[in-house]
Amino acid sequence: MSSTLRLGIIGIGNMGGAHAGNIRSGQVKRCTIAAVCDTDPARLKGLDCPVFADHRAMLASGTVDAVLIATPHYDHTTIGIDALAAGVHVMVEKPLSVHKADCERLIAAYERRPKPGQLFAAMFNQRTNPAYIKLRDLIQAGELGEIRRVNWIITDWFRTEAYYASGGWRATWRGEGGGVLINQCPHQLDLMQWLFGMPVRVRAHVALGKWHAIETEDAVTAYLEYATGATGVFITTTGETPGTNRLEVAGERGRVVIEGEGLKWIRNTTPMTEFSRTTTQSFGRPETWNVEIPVKGSGGQHIEVLQNFVDAILDGKPLIAPAQEGIRSVELGNAMLVSGLLDRTVELPLDSAMVEREFQRLIASSKFEKKVVAAGPAGDFAASHSR
Ligand SMILES: NC(=O)c1ccc[n+]([C@@H]2O[C@H](COP(=O)([O-])OP(=O)(O)OC[C@H]3O[C@@H](n4cnc5c(N)ncnc54)[C@H](O)[C@@H]3O)[C@@H](O)[C@H]2O)c1
Repeated sequence: MSSTLRLGIIGIGNMGGAHAGNIRSGQVKRCTIAAVCDTDPARLKGLDCPVFADHRAMLASGTVDAVLIATPHYDHTTIGIDALAAGVHVMVEKPLSVHKADCERLIAAYERRPKPGQLFAAMFNQRTNPAYIKLRDLIQAGELGEIRRVNWIITDWFRTEAYYASGGWRATWRGEGGGVLINQCPHQLDLMQWLFGMPVRVRAHVALGKWHAIETEDAVTAYLEYATGATGVFITTTGETPGTNRLEVAGERGRVVIEGEGLKWIRNTTPMTEFSRTTTQSFGRPETWNVEIPVKGSGGQHIEVLQNFVDAILDGKPLIAPAQEGIRSVELGNAMLVSGLLDRTVELPLDSAMVEREFQRLIASSKFEKKVVAAGPAGDFAASHSR
């Protein structure tokens, strides 16, 4: 391979277009847009590279070393399988797929890849946010002690009716495969598993079309239990503004809060359980220190993850987000959805065939008629995708 990666973009809508803009403006080094594929001919007009209406034609053309898949979610699986079988490197937008069974199919295709050196990455741009990186360091170094409780309120994903009406696939079971859990929250669900691992039990309340004229979920409150006895609460909606993005973690060594810029740690000088067992004071508490952990900005986000993909292919750098890890956030979101729909606690690992049957049932029983209206000005797309 030459010293420049020839990238094909599949799906050049909002996000594919944003990636293309980042590459064209020279922000992703050693990467060139070698071809673009989109099923909508209007999206391909005026592009100065080879264009394709079908991804299979692009893959057969020999014009690309790697592809970036930024299509609606079900196509991540089918296109991803074709691209891996064609021997190219693959980066897939979040979520990896709609449900766990499709993730398993995609990962199986990666395991069957014809070239051992093929890379398979996912666009989890929030893994570049230094606040989450520092929190992960604290947890992995044992500085925060055993985690006891996690709360994430992520309700600043406000979306309007115009947003949902802007695409026929959006917020439908058949087209998108869900609502806030599958479109907006994959980043936070990925960070949940990246930071705290997977829970063993989930109980959720899920409201379908509570704040919008949509058939999928737009409000979720989930309770999670981990094998260690730690608990979690995850609250999300697209129907609230200004909304909140607050991650609070209680560990033996104190409480960390990430809200806005930075990371605040109130550190217990003695682990809380040890203090409780050993003190003679009825109302005592361990001494605490306020630890200000310096964190600036929100990291390189999409550009950093794409640059990392290029560097991993050309120089062998480790991937920020190997795509196989994407199955976990999908499973977590599936667990919340299925728990809410079935009105019961679900155990993890999930039975992927059972989850797939639920999706098929939702699609088969859908009577929803989507009204598509051309979107007005997009507003601040970049800002709304760097949280
Ligand atoms: N990482 C992030 O921050 C972020 C932000 C927004 C969207 N996304 C993800 O990006 C993906 C696309 O979302 P979007 O908002 O850009 O959607 P979009 O509707 O704006 O664009 C999707 C594009 O894919 C094209 N397309 C559909 N089926 C195709 C196929 N089979 N082959 C080729 N092209 C096809 C459509 O014509 C359209 O141009 C989704 O997975 C979404 O979750 C990620």
